Amino acid sequence: MLEKKIFSGKEDKSILESALDAGLVFEYSCKTGQCGVCKTTLLSGEIAELQDQIALTLEDKKNHKVLTCCCAPKTDILIDAEDLSALHGIETKTLPARINAIEKYTAEHVEVTLRLPPSANFKFLEGQYLDVLWNNLRRSYSIASTANQKEITLLIKRFENGKMSDYWFNKAKENDLLRIEGPKGTFFLRDTSMPLIFLATGTGIAPIISILESLDANQEFKQKQSITVYWGNRYPEAFIWQPRFKKLDINFVKVCSKPNEDWDDEKGYVQDAALAEQSSMVRSAVYACGSNAMIQSSKAQFMKAGLPEKQFYSDAFVQSY
Ligand SMILES: Cc1cc2nc3c(=O)[nH]c(=O)nc-3n(C[C@H](O)[C@H](O)[C@H](O)COP(=O)(O)OP(=O)(O)OC[C@H]3O[C@@H](n4cnc5c(N)ncnc54)[C@H](O)[C@@H]3O)c2cc1C
Ligand code: FES
Repeated sequence: MLEKKIFSGKEDKSILESALDAGLVFEYSCKTGQCGVCKTTLLSGEIAELQDQIALTLEDKKNHKVLTCCCAPKTDILIDAEDLSALHGIETKTLPARINAIEKYTAEHVEVTLRLPPSANFKFLEGQYLDVLWNNLRRSYSIASTANQKEITLLIKRFENGKMSDYWFNKAKENDLLRIEGPKGTFFLRDTSMPLIFLATGTGIAPIISILESLDANQEFKQKQSITVYWGNRYPEAFIWQPRFKKLDINFVKVCSKPNEDWDDEKGYVQDAALAEQSSMVRSAVYACGSNAMIQSSKAQFMKAGLPEKQFYSDAFVQSY
């Protein structure tokens, strides 16, 4: 049953920010117009673009789609957006955080654990991300740990000439003081009554580790449906995580796009591996995280294979501005 909710907007504030200010949570991820997660339908009224709606196609524009992170209301408007009540009461906070440990897995991957002040009371849903603020830089990172763990774990990949990469890989040391702002995003597990398909590229596995570990630790969860994880990386050495669950029974598929001759798992791209194995997606829920190219391509291909758009959830690791 659809419910109408009313909140105030401002001409210089995105619809998404006004909704968040009013205690409502609509789907979002990047907040910069790149990922398309906040796409919704404008049913009536007029909007103004505050930033480019990069993720909208011409077809979307014809169909009155708008990105709530990019547009502000010019008049009273009516939009078709779901208020995600699971995130009510989860407050975005800015907090000091100290580096507890940095573990270098490869020349391109580090795991960073952060400790927050004992009084922080930092709550999040597994799958969400946070922003790290350091030296006038702001970069988003998904949380790889679970909400009941004391420390926050991040999995970080090095980007060539990356400003924040330079910090993590060349300068960061234990006890450094940073700030975090979070939690953010709406990538979290919805319905467990359907077969679950997780797709990740690179460090996009971080929020999926968090989701699966919390499910594994959840005494009330009884697995009745299949869970499949497709994890893609360019090179074999980037597979820095191996699932070890107490009760979850998952089908874990490693997919390498530039394998060496010793590689005997899947080769190519995660979306192709998933499509080759999953004959019907009508009753599945798909959670995809990592590169925007993988997310856009898998969404289009899976919808062709019968996946309803509303059963595709994603978090794109787009570039920060
Ligand atoms: C919601 C969200 C969650 C994220 N979670 C993680 C995570 O868990 N782990 C992680 O390693 N990263 C994650 N990222 C990406 C991260 O925020 C940074 O973009 C990335 O670490 C690069 O930052 P940098 O300062 O090192 O590079 P920059 O100085 O910003 O850029 C250096 C070069 O790399 C290119 N570049 C930068 N970022 C990207 C990108 N994301 N994709 C493609 N090219 C890029 C730039 O064009 C530039 O040429 C996430 C991003 C988002 C939006
Ligand atoms: S395009 Fe709006 S949240 Fe990414």
